Amino acid sequence: MAEVAVLPGDGIGPEVTAQGLRVLAALPFEVSVVELPFGGAAIDLTGEPLPPETLSACRSADAVLLGAVGGPRWDHASPRPEAGLLGIRKELDVYANLRPTTHGDVDLVIVRELVGGLYFGARGVRDDGTVFDTCEYHPSQIERVVRLAFELARSRRSRLVSVDKSNVLDTSRLWRRIVEELTPEYSDVTVSHALVDSFAVELALHTESFDVIVTENMFGDILSDLAGGIAGGLGLAASASLGDEKPGIFEPVHGSAPDLAGRGVANPAAMLRSVALMLEHAFDQGALARFVFDSVDHALQTTPTRDVGGAASTTEFGDAVLRSLEARLALDEATA
Ligand code: NAD
Ligand code: IPM
Ligand code: MN
Repeated sequence: MAEVAVLPGDGIGPEVTAQGLRVLAALPFEVSVVELPFGGAAIDLTGEPLPPETLSACRSADAVLLGAVGGPRWDHASPRPEAGLLGIRKELDVYANLRPTTHGDVDLVIVRELVGGLYFGARGVRDDGTVFDTCEYHPSQIERVVRLAFELARSRRSRLVSVDKSNVLDTSRLWRRIVEELTPEYSDVTVSHALVDSFAVELALHTESFDVIVTENMFGDILSDLAGGIAGGLGLAASASLGDEKPGIFEPVHGSAPDLAGRGVANPAAMLRSVALMLEHAFDQGALARFVFDSVDHALQTTPTRDVGGAASTTEFGDAVLRSLEARLALDEATA
């Protein structure tokens, strides 16, 4: 049986994850689920955000479903909950983070490099008190994620924009050169390059004109929140973090939303769409994934949460998704 390691984490993480597990349990696809401490919750239990038991259970699972980590309570912890998130991404080598945005005419995917760059370069403090973080990329780290983005573009509308800051940064000049070197291998894909600052404006003003966007870790972090915001907010934005091997990590783009935590009002749509991405990418269950995506869209129309202009609670939204999902499954069964 397929195994899913579930890391609810902190803040609204456990609240949205609970809805994800309800939906997973309702599907005619059996998975065994193991919940593990992670993030601030794991710091409270063990002193570390990514305990060895959690990591080893994730390694042996077929997929990891992750809520969110962090919160004011651990803002001065060392290590912080966020270090656990970076740790698990690095350990599982999930180098490509797919962050899709669909909304009206908008249908784009940001492919964010996830295990390199500023997040993982050398850092420290010099004797004079200067603190530094460095942005580092090995060519092979760029090549693999860019290839994945080309392949993804090929399976979609064959348009790829590579976003960098090659007018300033050496790592971006390397990034651009590698994209240019690979371009002839994907002659069916139309490629363009953009500088991240002006690209942010393009993304905000002409969101519908993009297909696949590939960029380095930090730019991808920022641009994907922007894309999520344009399409209705962070409560809607899901992601799949993939490497060459199993397991992938499936997680909302949003964080632990301390302003909402414990109130039962968070929108679980991003988590439910992450469950759908898991069905698609980890388990090859494209039809079930579609049912989940469609049920979430339906619930957003009928039973919206506060962030998208409604009044439904997290659980009420989950109820609406389950009703819609069960109807779709029954219809599918009847017509099979
Ligand atoms: P955030 O994404 O938690 O919240 C930003 C805003 O979006 C808030 O107003 C919040 O209420 C809203 N929001 C987020 N998710 C929502 C949802 N599901 N439904 C409705 N509204 C939602 O970002 P932040 O406030 O900058 O960060 C809070 C904490 O989360 C920090 O500790 C940060 O490090 C952490 N964080 C974790 C992850 C992760 O675990 N993947 C991602 C981002 C931030
Ligand atoms: C995200 C988050 C994380 C990131 C933080 C919490 C480490 O913002 O998943 O987008 O920057 O990658
Ligand atoms: Mn982010």
